[in-house]
Amino acid sequence: MSFEEDIRAAADAVRSCEEITIISHIDADGISSESILAQALLRQGIHITTKFVRQLDPLTLDQIPDDSSLKIFSDLGSGQQQMLIEKGLDPSRTIIIDHHVSQPAEMGSDPFIEVNCLNHGHEKMSAAGVSYLLARELDTINTDLAKLAIIGNVGDMMDREHLCLIGPAREILRDGITSGAVELWEHDLNIYGISTRPLPQSLAYSDDMEIPGVSRDPDGAGKFLERIGITPLQPNRWPVWEDLSFDQKQQVCSAVIEQMMAHGKDTTRLFADHYLFPDEDKHQASLRNASEFATMLNSCGRWQRPELGGAICRGDRVAAYREAEHMLRNHRTKIREVMLYITDTGVTELSHMLYIHVGGRFPDTIVGIGAGMALSRLNPEKPILIMCEDSLDPSMTKVSMRTRPEVVSRGVDLQQALSQACEGHENCSGGGHRIAAGAFIPRDHERAFIEDVNRILAQQYA
Ligand code: C5P
Ligand code: C5P
Repeated sequence: MSFEEDIRAAADAVRSCEEITIISHIDADGISSESILAQALLRQGIHITTKFVRQLDPLTLDQIPDDSSLKIFSDLGSGQQQMLIEKGLDPSRTIIIDHHVSQPAEMGSDPFIEVNCLNHGHEKMSAAGVSYLLARELDTINTDLAKLAIIGNVGDMMDREHLCLIGPAREILRDGITSGAVELWEHDLNIYGISTRPLPQSLAYSDDMEIPGVSRDPDGAGKFLERIGITPLQPNRWPVWEDLSFDQKQQVCSAVIEQMMAHGKDTTRLFADHYLFPDEDKHQASLRNASEFATMLNSCGRWQRPELGGAICRGDRVAAYREAEHMLRNHRTKIREVMLYITDTGVTELSHMLYIHVGGRFPDTIVGIGAGMALSRLNPEKPILIMCEDSLDPSMTKVSMRTRPEVVSRGVDLQQALSQACEGHENCSGGGHRIAAGAFIPRDHERAFIEDVNRILAQQYA
């Protein structure tokens, strides 16, 4: 079946329902995905119950109500189909909306109603994108939900490799622009925090460009800006990128190019698309663009408050926003701590990867993000593998891996590496994407697991 036929089949299955249980992932993509589905289904008059989960394992599956409601798994499920069968889920009453690598259940069982963009070659789209396409198939009134789909896609970094959304995700972007909720800033400066971060900070901490005298040096970045006439609005209060005029932005871009070229730096990742939300209040700047909105959702979901992120997605800008601001502050502090811990402690450099174990210092839901951020300050040529205690089960270890687009284009596939390494050990489960993957493994297998992953990576490089 084609992607469109899969979407239509899922829409048909939904239309005849009165009750649906959505089981979704706790990250930005899972939260926005759930919000799209829940709002679209409510508009159909369907009663919705939601359960957010950190991952799908036998224990979490036990918490899913054994009732007659149709089950929709979003941002997870494709890789766990055998487990879903073993837990007794009825394939004809279960929809999987996902973008992770699909592993169908063993021969003999009926297939699930699965809508997975990856199965149709659309690698750069997340679960929120798939949810949106289903919502739009149900009723075109749901095109107002395109904004949430953009947030989910950006939260899962679907724009990271090409520095813009492509394929079906770009079509969704067009819906967002048409609805007036999304503004596209094309080929703009590739920095993070365009609506909230003081400009010197944004420039100093861009992962993608090495600007001599500016990168990792906010004071240097401030001086660099002052030299071209961009100054604080008040003492120590710098503008954010969003506040600059067109001419000022041109000036900064020219100066950055000049500085990088003078030092022979690669400028190929200097420009990226940004997705702005003009309807969000400037006083709630964390919601003004897709990547910062996604960070706010992650700060809720990864700290056990996914429903708070859901309330933000549904438009609560008062009580939920106030609480989410605290979550965001905490999230930023903690992620920075993970990153500094990694860079200060130092990683072990193996032949084909970097490795660190952070024990029980940080929750397993954020170590991968911290490792991804630390990578540009380490040896970005090698993937990083980070281990920590599984917060729910001390006999298990959480593994997260991250790498960079250049490394993936050389043939490295972290999803494949972790899945293959898991095959050699009992009670292991892993998956994800080529650029970012994770696994849970028994604690006493750590050493052997690391060696296996390093060996598999060596084969991939070869
Ligand atoms: O659940 P899963 O798809 O949702 O997780 C996506 C995670 O992978 C993000 O939190 C992000 O840290 C990471 N990622 C990345 N670079 C990409 C895509 C994803 O680091 N290009
Ligand atoms: O947890 P972390 O952010 O490192 O996850 C990176 C990617 O790996 C995510 O897409 C996540 O869904 C996936 N993953 C997985 N199986 C696991 C752990 C993570 O598929 N056991």
